[in-house]
Amino acid sequence: MESLSWWHTIRFSPEVATLGRCDPSALTDAYLLDTIDFRGKDVLDIGCWDGFQSFYAEARGARRVVGIDDTSQRPDGAAAREFTKRKLRSGVEFVECNVYDVSLDRLGSFDIVMMFGVLYHLIHPMLGVEKACSVAKSDVLLASYVMLTDQSVPWCVLFPGRELCDDDSNWSGVNASWVRAALDIQGFAVDREQPYNTNYRTFHARRTRNEHTENPMLNAFRDTRLFLR
Ligand SMILES: C[S@@+](CC[C@H](N)C(=O)[O-])C[C@H]1O[C@@H](n2cnc3c(N)ncnc32)[C@H](O)[C@@H]1O
Repeated sequence: MESLSWWHTIRFSPEVATLGRCDPSALTDAYLLDTIDFRGKDVLDIGCWDGFQSFYAEARGARRVVGIDDTSQRPDGAAAREFTKRKLRSGVEFVECNVYDVSLDRLGSFDIVMMFGVLYHLIHPMLGVEKACSVAKSDVLLASYVMLTDQSVPWCVLFPGRELCDDDSNWSGVNASWVRAALDIQGFAVDREQPYNTNYRTFHARRTRNEHTENPMLNAFRDTRLFLR
């Protein structure tokens, strides 16, 4: 366990825990996890890294949990989550998959889709939201870095270099208004928001309509249908 790199502190017993850099007790609140009823639900965790949120959903009664990640960005995550899976005798399914490759054909559909800390890593954030929503039957939990300036319009900025946190894997800065609008386009209405760490926010959205059949705008223009499957 000590030879692996951990983002989250995952506790196996009162005496044994991983040497994570992030305190999960703060995360359940930040990510609204404690407000979600996972019992009997099918759950997808996009960008699962070491799997903390996947294991959390499973421990709270989820029926099926799939965690996906493109590990080219965080190669340490795969070994850490497989170690934890064995240790917990967990049934979480981990799949190497980029969010852009998410589809009903590849993964099936889920009651709850979680996408925490991924949006700002995406050069195509709208496509990321669309992909997450495309396999979500009822709930989407999305947590992201958000820009705190002008909220009167949905906007998104590109970070071509290391402008955000001196990290060149960060590409996009959206404001909260953008997240709400992007989810709304895909048929989801935000019903709860939780700010945390100043610039971060979790959005809990519920499906209000079937976006592709009931949103005439999405059906009318080819550019919004390019990636739909
Ligand atoms: C900041 S970490 C967040 C980890 C975890 N979800 C959390 O909130 O603590 C971002 C994760 O998203 C993954 N990731 C980044 N871009 C991705 C993409 N295009 N598709 C799938 N996973 C991606 C990274 O590999 C990393 O594990």
